[in-house]
Amino acid sequence: MASRSPESAASVAETDGSVQIRHLEVSDREKGFLPLLSQLSACPELTASEFAACFADLAALGDDHVILVAEDSAASAPERRILATGCLFVERKFLRGGGKVGHVEDVVVDAAARGRGLGLRVVRRLVEIAKEVGCYKVILDCTPELRAYYAKCGFVEKGVQMAIYF
Ligand SMILES: CC(C)(COP(=O)(O)OP(=O)(O)OC[C@H]1O[C@@H](n2cnc3c(N)ncnc32)[C@H](O)[C@@H]1OP(=O)(O)O)[C@@H](O)C(=O)NCCC(=O)NCCS
Repeated sequence: MASRSPESAASVAETDGSVQIRHLEVSDREKGFLPLLSQLSACPELTASEFAACFADLAALGDDHVILVAEDSAASAPERRILATGCLFVERKFLRGGGKVGHVEDVVVDAAARGRGLGLRVVRRLVEIAKEVGCYKVILDCTPELRAYYAKCGFVEKGVQMAIYF
């Protein structure tokens, strides 16, 4: 089961060399998706049914919530792993005549696959999708160390991030 129908406005499947960028599928739990996310922040394992329930909740948001993954498509099927991921959340507003803002979240590339352009490809594709679905801007939060990386992805510095953690 994929998180999108092929007709979806945010449908993607792009293969370049040995890596395919596509929507998250429920079977990606078996391909190391959660351990990959845990390289970014706390991400305990979920059982298959917990993962499927979470996947269904997010898939119900349709084109307003897109999770892309990069899979090493050159490996034999049982060996295939998820090497990178990133998420786009589309916030709907009254402002700007019912405008939409894209939020890029949860970008991470497996430590062994960094420096090969995967992070760039995933984020650029998320930005393209945001444009395709009608967002008037895309924003994200990051640490100062990642300014140069996100600048390579086309972002410019704007404003100040503030947070309350619970
Ligand atoms: C940040 C991260 C996603 C980058 O992914 P990546 O696949 O290694 O990056 P890419 O190979 O696509 O790099 C694209 C460009 O950004 C540059 N870049 C990548 N990481 C960088 C960094 N930390 N600082 C400065 N520049 C960086 C690369 O040199 C490259 O530039 P080039 O095209 O001139 O060679 C990856 O290092 C990662 O997963 N880090 C841990 C999780 C994390 O911090 N996620 C971001 C949360 S906001």
